[in-house]
Amino acid sequence: MSDLIHYRLDDGLALIGLDRAPVNALDQSMRAAISEACERAACDPRVQAIVLHGERGLFSAGADIREFGTDASFAEPDLPSTLVRLAEIHKPVVAAIGRLALGGGLELALACGYRIGEPGTRLGLAEISLGLLPGAGGTQRLPRLIGVESALNMILSGEQVDAQTARLLGILDRIAPSAEQLLEEAKAYAYELIGCCAPARPAEAWPEPAEGLPDDFLAHYRAEHEPRWKSRLAPRLVLSAMEAACLLPLEEGLAREMALFKRAEASRQSKALRHVFFAEREAARIPGIGEDIRLRRIAKVAIIGAGTMGGGIAMNFANAGIPVALLEREGEALERGLTQIRKNYEASLKRGKLTAEQMQQRMELLFGTLDYADLADADLVIEAVFEKMEIKQQVFRMLDKVCKPGAILASNTSSLDVDAIAAVVSRPQDVIGLHFFSPANVMRLLEVVRGQATAPDVLATTMAIARRIGKLPVISGVCFGFIGNRMLEPYAREAHRLVLEGATPAQVDAVLTGLDLNMGVFSMLDLAGIDVNFLIRSSNRAASAHDESYCRLGDELYAMGRYGQKSGRGFYLYQGRSRQEDDEVMALAERLAGELDVTRRAIGEQEIHDRCLFMLINEGIQLLDEGIALRASDIDLVWINGYGFPAHLGGPMHYAEHLGLDKILSGIQHYRRALGEYGEMWFRPAPLLERLVAAGRSRIERLPAQSAGANLKFLERVR
Ligand code: NAI
Repeated sequence: MSDLIHYRLDDGLALIGLDRAPVNALDQSMRAAISEACERAACDPRVQAIVLHGERGLFSAGADIREFGTDASFAEPDLPSTLVRLAEIHKPVVAAIGRLALGGGLELALACGYRIGEPGTRLGLAEISLGLLPGAGGTQRLPRLIGVESALNMILSGEQVDAQTARLLGILDRIAPSAEQLLEEAKAYAYELIGCCAPARPAEAWPEPAEGLPDDFLAHYRAEHEPRWKSRLAPRLVLSAMEAACLLPLEEGLAREMALFKRAEASRQSKALRHVFFAEREAARIPGIGEDIRLRRIAKVAIIGAGTMGGGIAMNFANAGIPVALLEREGEALERGLTQIRKNYEASLKRGKLTAEQMQQRMELLFGTLDYADLADADLVIEAVFEKMEIKQQVFRMLDKVCKPGAILASNTSSLDVDAIAAVVSRPQDVIGLHFFSPANVMRLLEVVRGQATAPDVLATTMAIARRIGKLPVISGVCFGFIGNRMLEPYAREAHRLVLEGATPAQVDAVLTGLDLNMGVFSMLDLAGIDVNFLIRSSNRAASAHDESYCRLGDELYAMGRYGQKSGRGFYLYQGRSRQEDDEVMALAERLAGELDVTRRAIGEQEIHDRCLFMLINEGIQLLDEGIALRASDIDLVWINGYGFPAHLGGPMHYAEHLGLDKILSGIQHYRRALGEYGEMWFRPAPLLERLVAAGRSRIERLPAQSAGANLKFLERVR
């Protein structure tokens, strides 16, 4: 018997304990062990019922994700047939579900005739987040247990349900009073089943999974939800599997599910989403810093500036139960900030996302002040005042005076030099950049900007606290715009320039949203504010000193007071939420093109795609070469979580690998030649891209330069 399973005979019961740390992943060896144990119990005449449980409490978090897309995924015994065989056993099988049954783990439980959980149990089928569908009976057995509508919601959302909800839905038959009593209760349940000669499987709760629903329920569901799915394949495959569950007998439905699963598994989208899954885990690793590093204790936090960002940042900590002091320069601003926070919570309360009690608790954790002396006991201070170096440095000088030794001093600057901020304090090792994204209480991304002097334990502590408040932290080095905004620059530059050359903002945006980005460049600028963008650009004019052509459009819109959505006019005209193209913008583009001697012409979709995306990718590759980004996959996470790049394309770097690095290089070289002086100026391939192509590499990774000066030409421009 395998050491992955503890098999015990206990007075008529076979207790099969899954024991593969940390989460009982159902890889090939585990599947084999479960099969063998179940066969043994099925054949043993002394066994009257079987209890499947997690030897250390936790039941199973599902498949081993590393197996997907490889031969191991369906290596014998595969999960679907293991579960078919399990469901055929002529003895009652009880799943005792401690803590988690996710994905394949829940499918394992669904193949058992009876299920008992404990109060902390959570169940879910999260395959959709990997571009997959449940492939071991989940799409067929769940609708027969809880009806097609509930099953569809659970599978398409990928969300976990708690024990109580699972009991109400009918997934769990019982809930043990505590996790500690789960196994004993499961055994008692099994004896009861034996006592009343219960069948190996009870009759299906929903033999007709669509019973009570209109005939066109699934068609309606598809029509309603499809626009949000954009080009995602997996939700559509889930729906097909559900159709099968409603129309076909179980055996045929399972065969259909398997075919659909294999299609999803082989898809580019699933490969990309699996890349994202591993990228998130990888991003937590900090080269050179081991897990044994001593973290600083963060029990109290302070935020300077209760504006848009400060308020949102404060909410993150209050949500995590950490007290926050919010400091402003004047009472009115403080009051405004606190009122806005209350309003945000009230909105969540109205949407049922928060209880009144939770809101009260969170508000009580927030403490407003105008006095720096109140920050003396803060363990972490995050500055979020106006984006001006002099003001930030002034704030940091104050912090240096009042904060206790060892306090971490962070700046939420979106573009300023963190090292220049650190230079004004006596403890630069304690200074770090924490670049939140707006709205800060919602957006998951956090760029953690490591300064020259930032101490390893400061970096490790901020990474840990970021995760504690539910963020996805990605490390960036110091440069203008860090990872995300620096890449935004060439991407937006091309978009502007294309409009000067003859494209319309809507045409450019349509190509980008056609790729499934959340928003096109121009809608995004209108939302963020053309005024905000103007100010950022103004603080970094040196970077574009030799060619401002592409900035003229934004500058002129700014001068016209067209600030974007907030003023009802920007690149588009707004009426409420709807937007339309504006002839005035087109006329402006035409006039500027004349002044700048830019020839206007009809521009095709491919050109828009290639120029915007290739320049974005090129900058990302350069960031990797410079060491600003630690890994290509970190760049993907930044653009997926901060800029609406579709996760099912895997992020810009993964997408580049899919397109082919040689194709990107030759595209850049093509536009360098085709676009005259402008092309010469901006279409410079990143040296690392050239090296990768020369070396025949298909993956984006660091490759040492032949000569130290190889990057200089490129750096001249970006610094
Ligand atoms: P904001 O103008 O909404 O808020 C700034 C707040 O700081 C104001 O309430 C102001 O009264 C206060 N303040 C100014 N000087 C102060 C001082 N000396 N002491 C205490 N309070 C002071 O600005 P916002 O948008 O919240 O931006 C703050 C920082 O966050 C900036 O560095 C900005 O670049 C950065 N950021 C902004 C993002 C955005 O989308 N708005 C995104 C990411 C970063």
